[in-house]
Amino acid sequence: MGYRAGAHHNGDVSCTSCHTVMAAKSPKALLKTASASDTCYSCHAEVRTDINKMSHHPLREGRMECASCHNVHGSTPSLLAKATVNDTCFTCHQEKRGPFVWEHAPVRESCATCHTPHGSNNRNLLSGKDSFLCLTCHSYGGHINLPRYNRTSNPYGSGCVNCHTSVHGSNHPSGAKLTR
Ligand code: HEC
Ligand code: HEC
Ligand code: HEC
Ligand code: HEC
Ligand code: HEC
Ligand code: HEC
Ligand code: HEC
Repeated sequence: MGYRAGAHHNGDVSCTSCHTVMAAKSPKALLKTASASDTCYSCHAEVRTDINKMSHHPLREGRMECASCHNVHGSTPSLLAKATVNDTCFTCHQEKRGPFVWEHAPVRESCATCHTPHGSNNRNLLSGKDSFLCLTCHSYGGHINLPRYNRTSNPYGSGCVNCHTSVHGSNHPSGAKLTR
C-alpha cells in the first residue's frame, strides 16, 4: 500500500529491481542477491562507502541489514522503518528514549543531529569531531573561558564528554548540566 507513495516507486524502481520470481538467491523474500544488503548496494554504492568507515553499524559483520532500519516498501521520509529517525533508533537503543529529568534538546529532536546512521570516521558514528561537534551549537562562553577548561588544558582537548558524561540526558538530581 505504501509503495506508491514511497521514494522507490517515485524513482521508477520496480518490484523486480530487487526481487526475482524465478531464481531467488536469498534464503528469504525471493531477492536477486544472497544478502539483502547486497541488493541495496547495487544502486546505493555511497552507503557501502559509509559502512566501510571506521565507526559503523555492524552490517559488514552480518549482524544487521539495511532492512533493520529501512522499510523499502514504505513511504516515510528516507523510507525509515518507523515514523521518525528517533523511533527507528529506539527499537534497539531503548535506553536513549527517556524521558529524562534533564533532557538535552538536540537528542529529543533527532539522533541524526550528532550521529550519521551508516558510518563515520569519527568515533561512535559522530558527524563531527568531539569538541567541535558540541561547539557548533555551544559557544566558548561561560566556564570554557576559565584557564582550566581552555584548549591547552587536557580535559578540553580530549572532549566535552569527559565531564558531560550524560550527553543524551540525565536522571540524576544534580544532572542539569549533564555531568552525571
Ligand atoms: C528496493 C528493493 C525492493 C523493492 C523495490 C521491493 N522489495 Fe519487496 N523486499 C525487499 C527486501 C529487502 C525484503 C526483505 C525485507 C526484510 O528482510 O524485512 C522484501 C520483502 C518482500 C516480501 C516478503 C514479506 C515482507 O514484507 O517482508 C514481499 C511479499 C515483497 N517484498 C513484495 C514486494 C512487492 C510486491 C514489491 C513491488 C511493489 C516489492 N516487494 C518491491 C526489497 C524490495
Ligand atoms: C534498482 C536500483 C535500486 C535498488 C536495488 C535499491 N534502491 Fe533505494 N533508491 C533507488 C532510487 C532510484 C531511489 C529514489 C531516488 C533517490 O532518492 O536516490 C531510492 C531511494 C531510497 C531511499 C530513500 C532516499 C531518500 O532520500 O528518501 C532509501 C532509504 C533507499 N532507497 C534504501 C534502499 C534499500 C535499503 C535498498 C535495498 C533493500 C534499496 N534502496 C535498493 C534505487 C534503488
Ligand atoms: C542504523 C539504522 C540504519 C541502517 C542499518 C541503514 N540506514 Fe540508511 N538511513 C538511516 C537513517 C536514520 C537515514 C536518514 C538520515 C537523516 O534523515 O538524516 C538513512 C538514510 C538513507 C538514505 C537516504 C540518503 C542518505 O544517505 O541520507 C539511503 C539511500 C539509505 N539510507 C540507504 C541505506 C542502505 C542501502 C543501507 C544498507 C546498506 C542502510 N541505509 C542502512 C538509518 C539506517
Ligand atoms: C536493529 C538494531 C539497531 C537500530 C535500529 C539502531 N542501532 Fe545503533 N547499534 C546497533 C548495534 C548492534 C550496534 C553495535 C553495538 C556493538 O557493537 O556492541 C550499534 C551501535 C551504535 C553506535 C555506536 C557505534 C560505535 O562506533 O561504537 C551508535 C552511536 C548508534 N548505534 C546509534 C544509532 C542511531 C543514531 C540509530 C538510529 C538512526 C541506531 N543506532 C539504530 C543496533 C541498532
Ligand atoms: C548532542 C549530540 C548527540 C545527539 C543528538 C545524540 N547523541 Fe548519541 N552520542 C553523542 C556523543 C558525544 C557520544 C559519545 C559519548 C561518550 O563517548 O561518552 C554518543 C554515543 C552514542 C552511543 C554509543 C555509546 C552509548 O552511550 O551507548 C549510542 C548508542 C548513541 N549515542 C545513540 C544515540 C541515539 C539513539 C540518539 C537519539 C535518541 C543520540 N545518540 C543522539 C552525542 C549525541
Ligand atoms: C544541535 C545543537 C547542539 C549540539 C550539537 C549540542 N548541544 Fe548541548 N544543548 C543544545 C540546546 C538547544 C540545549 C538547551 C539549552 C537551554 O535549555 O537553554 C543544550 C544544553 C546543553 C547543556 C545544559 C546546559 C544548561 O544550560 O543547562 C549541556 C551541558 C550541553 N548542552 C552540552 C553539550 C555537549 C557536551 C555537546 C557535544 C557532545 C552538545 N551539548 C552538543 C544544543 C546542542
Ligand atoms: C573539566 C570538566 C568539563 C569540561 C571538559 C567541559 N565542561 Fe561544560 N561544564 C562543566 C561543569 C562542572 C559545568 C557546570 C558548571 C556550573 O554548574 O556552574 C559545566 C557547564 C556547561 C554548560 C552550561 C553553562 C551554563 O552557563 O550553565 C555548557 C553549555 C557546557 N558546560 C558545555 C561544554 C562544552 C561544549 C564543552 C566542550 C567544549 C565542555 N562543556 C567541557 C564541566 C566541564
